Amino acid sequence: MDTLAALHNRISSPRLSGEVSEEHLQNIFKAALRAPDHAQLKPWRFLIIKEEARNKLGELFAQAEREGNPEQTVQMAERARSKPLRAPIIVVCIAKLVEHNSVPEVEQILSCGSAVQNMLLAAYAQGVGAMWRTGGMAYNDLVKKGLGISASEQITGYLYLGQIEGRSKIVPALKVDEYFSVWKG
Ligand SMILES: Cc1cc2nc3c(=O)[nH]c(=O)nc-3n(C[C@H](O)[C@H](O)[C@H](O)COP(=O)(O)O)c2cc1C
Repeated sequence: MDTLAALHNRISSPRLSGEVSEEHLQNIFKAALRAPDHAQLKPWRFLIIKEEARNKLGELFAQAEREGNPEQTVQMAERARSKPLRAPIIVVCIAKLVEHNSVPEVEQILSCGSAVQNMLLAAYAQGVGAMWRTGGMAYNDLVKKGLGISASEQITGYLYLGQIEGRSKIVPALKVDEYFSVWKG
């Protein structure tokens, strides 16, 4: 797929299954590392979660939810536990924040977010399904601790990757003029 076609047509795929080949994964990961990066801080790192580790992440989600809600029902725990099973591969995207004279935290988070977007595009260009998710589990201290994420780091997203299940949605193109205007001073 050519670059503009991917940029103009990318969509997320919430229903994922199967496997992702190592070649496709490496292409996706390499794309993350070409994100724009002020002062070359490389303000990111990524954890790959697959196979049995998805169950461990699910257990962490269930525990974290229970800590926030002691009234958690069996069904609620099961729902939390099953979240990481929605795809064969999950990439936990982590912004590594440092104090810097000319690169505020927001720029470091944007840089990490750009890395996630690069991965979404690289996935789409290869026909791999992808979905960027956050939710409470991206901001939960127990989950962060369980994943070995330090206080100076932030989860910018869980990138779910897999083969696309079912039909892809059709998204009408937005009108450029509604979002872009010429400023004349
Ligand atoms: C930072 C961020 C976090 C997101 N978190 C979620 C989420 O937790 N759950 C969800 O359904 N969609 C989430 N989304 C939105 C989806 O990834 C997706 O972009 C949206 O469903 C629109 O679909 P599209 O990418 O095909 O346009 C998030 C998007 C961003 C940028």
